[in-house]
Amino acid sequence: MEVREKKPDIVILPGDLTCNGEEKSHLELAEKLKDIKKLGVHVFVVPGNHDIENPWARNYFGNEMIKIDSITSDQFADIYAPFGYKDALSRDPNSLSYLATPSEDIWLLMLDSAKYDRNKVKDGPEMGGALSDKTLNWIEQCGELAKENDARLIAVMHHSLLNHSEVVNENYTIENNEEAVKVLKDSGVEIVLTGHIHLQDIKSHDGDGKIIYDIATSCLIAYPNQYGTLRFVPNKGFHYRTNRINMDNWIKANNISDSNLRNFHEYSRNFFQKRTYDKYYDSLLEISKYTDTEMKAISETISILNLSYFGGFRNDALHHIFKTEGFNLLLESSPNFIRDYALSMFNDEKTDNNKLFIPINLNGEKHKKQD
Ligand SMILES: [Fe+2]
Repeated sequence: MEVREKKPDIVILPGDLTCNGEEKSHLELAEKLKDIKKLGVHVFVVPGNHDIENPWARNYFGNEMIKIDSITSDQFADIYAPFGYKDALSRDPNSLSYLATPSEDIWLLMLDSAKYDRNKVKDGPEMGGALSDKTLNWIEQCGELAKENDARLIAVMHHSLLNHSEVVNENYTIENNEEAVKVLKDSGVEIVLTGHIHLQDIKSHDGDGKIIYDIATSCLIAYPNQYGTLRFVPNKGFHYRTNRINMDNWIKANNISDSNLRNFHEYSRNFFQKRTYDKYYDSLLEISKYTDTEMKAISETISILNLSYFGGFRNDALHHIFKTEGFNLLLESSPNFIRDYALSMFNDEKTDNNKLFIPINLNGEKHKKQD
């Protein structure tokens, strides 16, 4: 409904389109995306770590679940043919990456960073990501093509290009990110849109006179339930901002009486906070160095911090936590994972990761002048 109201030029889904890669889930999503396409909106997708050859694929019957097959990479390209694959200007022969040209001057480098080739012989899907050497070579060719056509390239992939945390990066950032940063920068890419980490976070890599941004938009289905919009203003630059989903019109149109849905923001906030509290209480039990009262106080503090942290706020925007008992207990503790995690939130690149302006003359103009 929100897409219908706002009618953007393009909708992008950067992977993890399904829970565990079940064919029926993919087919049902493709039907929904067809409705969006009928509005005249371009839709582009790439796979995430959950979408292909996933050993966790299940069919559910009441309380029972049965193991079923997940889709193959060929099936993915087939099901999502109308959403990038069919009309791609170029397709990488080595992955599900492709080059989309929704407009003359802005092209999309849709990258498949998932590693599903060995999933079949494993118990669960490979969580980490990478861009192979062959795919990096193909990206270089796309960069040349874009320069020849005076088009700007924006990249999209599931996994992070840059590290988004001081404490947790393994399986989140692609393995060969230094090489990938170089190739993407040389290909004229200034913006990479990612989604794997579920955190609202923007990081940049500055060097060689070129800057590249990895904008990780938080997970739509978890608090604060937001999506990112990128608006291009010719001769000026790109405006990125987040928007929380608005359920009001959908509730009115469908006459919804469910109180959780009618108060969705509050419901989602409470759900997320409780899940965080329980997760950290369990982790503290494992550390076994605090009393029960202390564990409750720390779990409460992290659950409040995570509401803001996952929503993109850091540094000064989190100072409200300083007076809590749990935070002071962490400060007095010897280093442990939870303490390091909490303190890392106060030493970050940006205080508010929900907005960014990227002027166009950073890299793109330089490339054109050199050419
Ligand atoms: Fe993921």
